[in-house]
Amino acid sequence: MKIYAHRGYSAKYPENTLVAFRATAELEVEGVEFDVHLTADRQVVVIHDEKINRTSNGSGYVKDMTFEELRQYDYGSWFSDEFAGEVIPTLAEVLDVFKDTNHHINIELKSDIFVYAGLEELVLREVEKQGMMGRVVISSFDHEAVKRVAELVPDVENAALFVNMILDVADYQKKLPAKALHVCLPTAVRKPVLEAISKGSIVRVWTVNDIQYVDPLLQIGVDSIFTDEPEMMLEFLKKGV
Ligand code: G3P
Ligand code: CA
Repeated sequence: MKIYAHRGYSAKYPENTLVAFRATAELEVEGVEFDVHLTADRQVVVIHDEKINRTSNGSGYVKDMTFEELRQYDYGSWFSDEFAGEVIPTLAEVLDVFKDTNHHINIELKSDIFVYAGLEELVLREVEKQGMMGRVVISSFDHEAVKRVAELVPDVENAALFVNMILDVADYQKKLPAKALHVCLPTAVRKPVLEAISKGSIVRVWTVNDIQYVDPLLQIGVDSIFTDEPEMMLEFLKKGV
């Protein structure tokens, strides 16, 4: 079972910050997952929500603020005073953390609520610039964005995200096209997912923070899990499931 640190090492560090990514870079996990949005001045920034309210001392929508405006807030204190002063990172800064590691990088395009015109191009351009095209997977709930990624760079790994499953998802995946399916934990055990796995689909599952789910997911042929607790999962898998 491959492990991806979800939003960086988000159980121990403030999600989607450089301190969380640097801690992940030290771990022997397969990869890291994080989320990107576009600022008013078209910078690709790493944050989960459309608004900065939950994970900073500021407020407002990422899309309405410039990078300079967003950068003045503190994205660590909400989690713990120990992390005061963490800033919102750019995609370039996060990729740089993993430049000299072997980690697989899952960039989730958060274009499912607001349309971020050209986000796919900007992300792919940065990945290419940093020479990391061979070890990224670009995913989204916005399947038009997943399709656009495949049109722009057919060889790059892309993945469609699902909360609810659809019938004959393997056929849907082939037509999109998407190289993998990322599904939420309760959906992972549904019949269409099991059928897709039997037809050869790569399935990754979020968010798995309890070791009791690892063995059942292994049994059904899930490729990877996203977890906020990468060290705990590594320890568990080392002991042998
Ligand atoms: O990419 C998998 C997972 O992160 C999707 O859900 O809300 O954590 O971005 P969310
Ligand atoms: Ca995500």
